[in-house]
Amino acid sequence: MVEIRLENLRKTFGDVVATDQVNMVLKEGELSTLLGPSGCGKTTLLRLIAGFYTPDSGRIYFDDRDVTDVPPYKRNTGMCFQNYALWPHMTVYDNIAYGLKLKRVNGMKYTKSAINRRVRDVLELVHLTGLEDRHIHQLSGGQQQRVALARALVIEPDVLLLDEPLSNLDAKLRLEMREEIIRIQKELSITTVYVTHDQSEALSISDKVAVMDHGYVQQFGTPREIYSNPQTIFVADFIGKCTFIDGKIESANEYLQVRIPNGQMISGKATIEGYPFEIGEPVKCAMRPESLHLQRTDPRDNEISGTVTRTIYVGSALEVYFQVGDIQAQAMLSPDTEISAGDTITLYAPRPEVMVLPLGGVEALKKVPGHPLFTAPAPSTASTNA
Ligand SMILES: Nc1ncnc2c1ncn2[C@@H]1O[C@H](COP(=O)(O)OP(=O)(O)O)[C@@H](O)[C@H]1O
Ligand SMILES: [Mg+2]
Repeated sequence: MVEIRLENLRKTFGDVVATDQVNMVLKEGELSTLLGPSGCGKTTLLRLIAGFYTPDSGRIYFDDRDVTDVPPYKRNTGMCFQNYALWPHMTVYDNIAYGLKLKRVNGMKYTKSAINRRVRDVLELVHLTGLEDRHIHQLSGGQQQRVALARALVIEPDVLLLDEPLSNLDAKLRLEMREEIIRIQKELSITTVYVTHDQSEALSISDKVAVMDHGYVQQFGTPREIYSNPQTIFVADFIGKCTFIDGKIESANEYLQVRIPNGQMISGKATIEGYPFEIGEPVKCAMRPESLHLQRTDPRDNEISGTVTRTIYVGSALEVYFQVGDIQAQAMLSPDTEISAGDTITLYAPRPEVMVLPLGGVEALKKVPGHPLFTAPAPSTASTNA
């Protein structure tokens, strides 16, 4: 197993900056996802790790080995492409065995019986035993996905790279294969990089999530950190739901006081450690739907009133949409709440649950001295001793 260390990576295609200033350590045995909207640079970053692209600048390390200029077939990575890229006219067995037939270990080819053994093992791992003689076109989408996974795993890679592996499957199969990928990843405890644009998929399978936008990693952390401590407005908006209220910093102490356009004050916490808020600085206050409560729990809770525009009963909760001035706000209340469109509603947001974010996205993060996103990572101690 290896740790992947990315140091100041940049990759352009002509005028397009596909990804830039990427600094991350993907820890050994962990599943890290690259999450973001289409075109944000996920596939580019994955292909840099695989070795299909060479960065314009920056380095890539597998443990302490610099692989930046090492060709893909010498990196020992297994890759699953978005469209599977299986050979339709070949059998399941041949599709899977193909990579092994090419592979050399210390210059030696695998023997026929060694190949046979490896293919049988991996078929068992992905639950396809018995289907080895089928042709690809005779398989369901989920089975094809398993073949693609088996083909990536059969070479016993140090790193598993998956590019939107479930995007061709229907919703039910997607959930099933998601569980399968987690099972296999944990069983082999293989360092895995998983690309997806689906935030709920990312939150549910990942040890760590890198949220990307416009080529930049906006935040890299555990699903919990990403959700409860977003570092940019983009992350707060992309992951889960949020109501945003514009304002200006009035004072900055343990809690930040933010003056909003109607003159009212909102107080909340900074999510970015060490960010130097200035008095008068324009910011956004962000609130999750579940942070707005019907009851006041502390005299210092923020009070937010508006007119209900719509309610949606979802069984476990009542989603309430309401208008505060010209802002569309949303709350998640108990399902038995008696409220309907046209009603006036007053809700309370505790100060620790209101997140105050600077404008400017990743540029703002650069104001934090030594911010990990913009500082080349040190190798972790485990790999230094390897
Ligand atoms: N081979 C290429 N040639 C030119 N532009 C590319 C190429 N690959 C990607 N791009 C551009 O780089 C950006 C990032 O693309 P990509 O990494 O494929 O995004 P994602 O996988 O997140 O959808 C996009 O603007 C895309 O158009
Ligand atoms: Mg892509």
